[in-house]
Amino acid sequence: MNRIYFDNAATTALDPEVLDAMMPYLTDQFGNPSSIYSYGRETKLAVESARISVARILNAKPSEIFFTSGGTESNNTAIFSSVRDLGCTYIITSPIEHHAV
Ligand SMILES: Cc1ncc(COP(=O)(O)O)c(C=O)c1O
Repeated sequence: MNRIYFDNAATTALDPEVLDAMMPYLTDQFGNPSSIYSYGRETKLAVESARISVARILNAKPSEIFFTSGGTESNNTAIFSSVRDLGCTYIITSPIEHHAV
C-alpha cells in the first residue's frame, strides 16, 4: 500500500537542489558563524549571502530577514516584536492555535 504524507506544513523532505546547496555547510564549512576564526567567518559569509538572496526574493531589505531555529522561536519573535516594536495592544488567538503560540 502506498503511503501519502499530509503534514508537509510541519516537516517536509528537502528538495534535492536545497540539499546540494546545503551539503558544503553540512560537511566541510560547518564553523560557527558567530565566531572570529576562519571557519566561522566563511560560514558567516554564506549566511549573509543567503540573507541577501532571501531579501531579494521577498523584495525586502537584508536587515529585515531573521533566521530562527524553528517555529517556537519564530512565533515568539513575531508576537513579542509586534507588541514591543509595532505597538500592538491586542493579540487575538484561539484554542486551536499551535501550543507554541
Ligand atoms: C505554528 C507552529 N508553531 C510552532 C511549531 C513548533 O516548531 P519548533 O518545534 O520548530 O519550535 C510548529 C511545528 O509544527 C508549528 O506548526
